[in-house]
Amino acid sequence: MSELPIDFIHCGTVSEFIKSIPDESVDLVLTDPPYGMNYKSREKHIKHATIENDNMNDYFRCLLTDYYKECGRILKVGGAIYSFCSHHHIEFFKKQICDNFTYKKILTWYKNNHTAGDHKTNYAPIQEFIIYATKGEHILRGGFDRDVLAFSKVSRKERKKLNHATPKPIDLLSYLIRKSTDPDDIVFDGFLGSGQTAKAAWLTGRRYVAAELDSDHWMTSMCSVSEAADEEIEALMNETGLTWEQLQDMPEGDNFEVVSIQEVDPMTIPESERDRYFATKKTRIKKQCPCPCHRKRRKT
Ligand SMILES: C[S@@+](CC[C@H](N)C(=O)[O-])C[C@H]1O[C@@H](n2cnc3c(N)ncnc32)[C@H](O)[C@@H]1O
Repeated sequence: MSELPIDFIHCGTVSEFIKSIPDESVDLVLTDPPYGMNYKSREKHIKHATIENDNMNDYFRCLLTDYYKECGRILKVGGAIYSFCSHHHIEFFKKQICDNFTYKKILTWYKNNHTAGDHKTNYAPIQEFIIYATKGEHILRGGFDRDVLAFSKVSRKERKKLNHATPKPIDLLSYLIRKSTDPDDIVFDGFLGSGQTAKAAWLTGRRYVAAELDSDHWMTSMCSVSEAADEEIEALMNETGLTWEQLQDMPEGDNFEVVSIQEVDPMTIPESERDRYFATKKTRIKKQCPCPCHRKRRKT
């Protein structure tokens, strides 16, 4: 087995990539595969209105069966999995989870607003499901929580920016990450879409490993985590009044902070080199200059 590529988003199918991940190397699987429901967004501004591999057929069944088996292999003992699904094929997804993990329960994601559909002959859908399971005993962090999670859908404006039919809300993903991991733990998502799981992992101080098949979505996810990394640097520069170069040039000392930076501007990566770069990279920089004059100096 090769080494685990941390803070990395593979561009291509998860099927091969996941096989290169070492046994018991990730702390949490937080994943949102195609639901097998042939989803089609009615929103005109979204170029990718459909989801790749979203038909319930033999290929889909094999892809997902193999995926959950591999997820069971790469998850550490004591880790957990959260897997999104809809009511359409919930029995299929639950079977995959039961075959590879210790099934705990199905959480309900209660959205602020229902999605489109045939509201004349059926009830308007305002919920999706998250199957929660573990590998061995898993301790939930924080206080007592209920199994219905109320989080708003991603706004129309944000959906347009992410150019994805079904992005999941950052605050819901961050909540699940905090419940089941500690800082610096590794979160895996083999169906990353617009990058929300990686961004949530990064924003909560965790690391991520992910894959996305569609190259446009891959680019969106790379840009999204890179942007978040840039915002962290910007905040640090404002706080200290130093430029990025000054921060990096500070002499070695105790008062260092680890931050993530983007390794390269994703838009400049040629298609043939997509698996050469990490989405973000951890680096150590001086948080607070000891010299009082530096502390007051503003960024030029
Ligand atoms: C339900 S969406 C995930 C949405 C994501 N949670 C977000 O917040 O944007 C499922 C994603 O899986 C991707 N996908 C489908 N087949 C795949 C495969 N074999 N390997 C990797 N990704 C795949 C699709 O392109 C799609 O973006």
